[in-house]
Amino acid sequence: MSLELFKEVEKRGHEQVVFFHYPEVGLKAIVGIHSTVLGPALGGCRMKLYPSEKEAIDDVLRLSEGMTYKNSVAGLDIGGGKACIIADHNLSAGRRELFLKFGECVRDLGGRYITAEDMGTGVKDIMTVREVCSFISGTSLEEGGGGDPSPWTAQGVFQGILASAERYYSSKDLKGKTVAIQGMGHVGVFLAELLTKAGAKLVVTDIDSRKLEAARQDFGAEVVEPGKIYDAECDIYSPCAVGQTINSDTIKRLKCKIIAGGANNQLTDDSMYKPILERKILYCPDFVINAGGVINCASELLPGGWSKSWTEAKVKNIYNTIHEVLERAERQSLFPEIVAVEIAKERIEQARQKKAEA
Ligand SMILES: NC(=O)c1ccc[n+]([C@@H]2O[C@H](COP(=O)([O-])OP(=O)(O)OC[C@H]3O[C@@H](n4cnc5c(N)ncnc54)[C@H](O)[C@@H]3O)[C@@H](O)[C@H]2O)c1
Repeated sequence: MSLELFKEVEKRGHEQVVFFHYPEVGLKAIVGIHSTVLGPALGGCRMKLYPSEKEAIDDVLRLSEGMTYKNSVAGLDIGGGKACIIADHNLSAGRRELFLKFGECVRDLGGRYITAEDMGTGVKDIMTVREVCSFISGTSLEEGGGGDPSPWTAQGVFQGILASAERYYSSKDLKGKTVAIQGMGHVGVFLAELLTKAGAKLVVTDIDSRKLEAARQDFGAEVVEPGKIYDAECDIYSPCAVGQTINSDTIKRLKCKIIAGGANNQLTDDSMYKPILERKILYCPDFVINAGGVINCASELLPGGWSKSWTEAKVKNIYNTIHEVLERAERQSLFPEIVAVEIAKERIEQARQKKAEA
């Protein structure tokens, strides 16, 4: 196991992987610090009963590496990390004790890793962590943090939609364009509002019929059943629900010219690159376009604390970054996701060289 783990860590380029084990509070946690070249490794803490330890380790390694690229391409002086706690996310008895201990673990890493909420954890858990450790992000406005990241994520997705529309249609005017949104949750609703104001028409879906009714009333959206969104006539498909919805079946059905949405891990895997390129669909890499949330978290780490204007400027810059990624992808005949990782790695390499010269 240890040899294989080192092989994986070497392949992905992690600096540090730490295992914490405190059975008295039921804590089994793994923290993956992929890179601190640009700054402390920021990434959320998941809480999940993984089917196997291998899957938990894989998740931490994969996600922490992804955070390095996401933070770098967003122009943040922040590295990439991720934590997972192997436990039932519904745990109630002893939850506080578990998160206090987790906080001590993060504290002992001395600021190399900064934690935040993620799947299975919430603001309350992070506030528990904060009682013993200051290396946290993602707190409420009342607590001096940046509050709900979703409006920022939606704003970033909107900027990415404007840039990709400009590349495809030579105009960022969305009047008369139809956007199909999958998922009317936190991100989807804020995005729908921005798109409606910009004059776009919406086709939306969700597994929750109440959210669909609200979308019909609030945005005059056409609503379709969840499975039908892939067949909707649209210019832009915006996945804002769950991951891996673009697969070998759905890619054949999509009628869009652009894929630009907030969901993480939108493609099943890199076998989707070829069909997307063949269909001449512009793909906005998910970790570039949905970085608004993490930008908002990073803003909390500024010396003077969270800044609205700083967050706004960085989120608006997603427009320029998507332009750069799509332009370079076209010029080099590469898939945009590959280009985005290249841009992220180049920035890290520059910072590494600068450090070495200093
Ligand atoms: N919230 C953020 O700031 C943020 C930041 C980065 C990435 N993301 C990603 O964006 C996506 C949406 O995040 P969110 O915060 O809006 O989540 P959310 O849970 O608030 O909303 C997701 C919505 O999708 C719906 N849904 C679930 N499965 C569906 C399906 N098969 N078909 C149609 N609808 C379905 C849910 O009912 C819900 O309304 C997630 O993939 C998340 O990881 C969110």
